[in-house]
Amino acid sequence: MKNFTYVNTTKIIFGKDTENLVGEEIKSFGGKKVLFHYGGGSIKKSGLYERIIKSLKDSHIDYIELGGVQPNPRLSLVRSGVELCKKHNIDFILAVGGGSVIDSAKAIGIGAVYDGDVWDFFSGKATINTTIPVGVILTIPAAGSEASTGTVITNEYGWYKWSVNSVIIRPKFAILNPELTYTLPAYQIACGASDMVAHVFERYFTNESGVDFTDELCEATIRSIMRSVKMVLNNPTDYEARANLMWEGTLAHNGILGTGRIEDWASHKIEHELSAIYDIAHGAGLAIIFPHWMEYVYKHDIYRFARFSHRIFNVDVDFFNLEATVLEGIKRLKKFYQEIGLPTKLRDVNIGNERLKEMAEKATINGPIGGFVKLTTDDVYNIYKMALE
Ligand code: NZQ
Ligand code: ZN
Repeated sequence: MKNFTYVNTTKIIFGKDTENLVGEEIKSFGGKKVLFHYGGGSIKKSGLYERIIKSLKDSHIDYIELGGVQPNPRLSLVRSGVELCKKHNIDFILAVGGGSVIDSAKAIGIGAVYDGDVWDFFSGKATINTTIPVGVILTIPAAGSEASTGTVITNEYGWYKWSVNSVIIRPKFAILNPELTYTLPAYQIACGASDMVAHVFERYFTNESGVDFTDELCEATIRSIMRSVKMVLNNPTDYEARANLMWEGTLAHNGILGTGRIEDWASHKIEHELSAIYDIAHGAGLAIIFPHWMEYVYKHDIYRFARFSHRIFNVDVDFFNLEATVLEGIKRLKKFYQEIGLPTKLRDVNIGNERLKEMAEKATINGPIGGFVKLTTDDVYNIYKMALE
């Protein structure tokens, strides 16, 4: 196990009606003038918007609004948010929504205390030293951004979807009320679960030995996500299933499952090119890429993959044919995605071979990717090709 330092300062406030505490929470973190940031309108339809306004007013918090965050959040709106924060002396950002809104808020937070252009952080020209603090009300269990160190932004001037990481941008608090997720369409629920599972896979596939504890936490988390999402899809008002799925999403990506190990993250980079260029949901892209990445790399550590098949998908181990054991596990993973209504091939989302080369080049623009198996541009291209049909 590798040496590590783990700090996670995001305060989690979990359960029914907790969104009504938002005004007091912001106050407790010193917020007086807030940027209230949200997406395309789901919070207005559900009535959440009014409850937030009431809580802010009850706590005498001054605010301005910036709605309109799109899935795969855009740099142009981040830049508008940065301008607003500078102009109105904003001292706290409230993100209400999913990964896209939270990531947009995190980017605004770092951009607003920086003299240059906010994209500098994503292109590696600037490093994060400080931020306007961000608080979250989560409405979709998926990306884990509510307690993660990352933000992923799409630069629509060239369609680059890049991320930047720092513990400085972890949100100060995250309000998680499972009932706020009742209005989600089935497809978004499934995409969210796929993203969670992927966050665990990125950590599970490691070359590190002596990490049995986190291996087992990873396996249990994936099994639990797969169970919860099916329960939620079968019975959308099952509060306990919603609650489990929401908490799983946070734990899948708050860093605890990656402690002591080198993580992979190639599949995420490969997927980000798909959602950058074709604007598909991140979780859907991951359901397409992950099984094909597995087929491409499993020989690198067939024992770990046999363990994946056995411990996560209950495949009987064929000691004389581990390859068959592995392939059966990958087959069951694809079946899981299909059962929850997700695509598993590029053709399923009408993507052909036209831009595969370009995406492979963009994914590896800074050199080979992946902490478990290093993938070159050609490797990434091969994975895209395998994912076509
Ligand atoms: O915009 P509104 O109207 O709110 O609709 C959203 C959006 O269309 C809708 N939605 C959210 N809550 C809802 C709801 N609809 C009805 N009822 C509700 N309660 O869901 C749609 C998707 O929202 P989005 O925020 O895009 O989803 P998600 O949370 O999956 O976030 C995806 C983004 O996060 C990034 C992804 O790349 C992608 O851009 N990621 C961020 C990470 C991080 N910061 O740590 C890690 C991840 O790996 C991921 O890359
Ligand atoms: Zn993800």
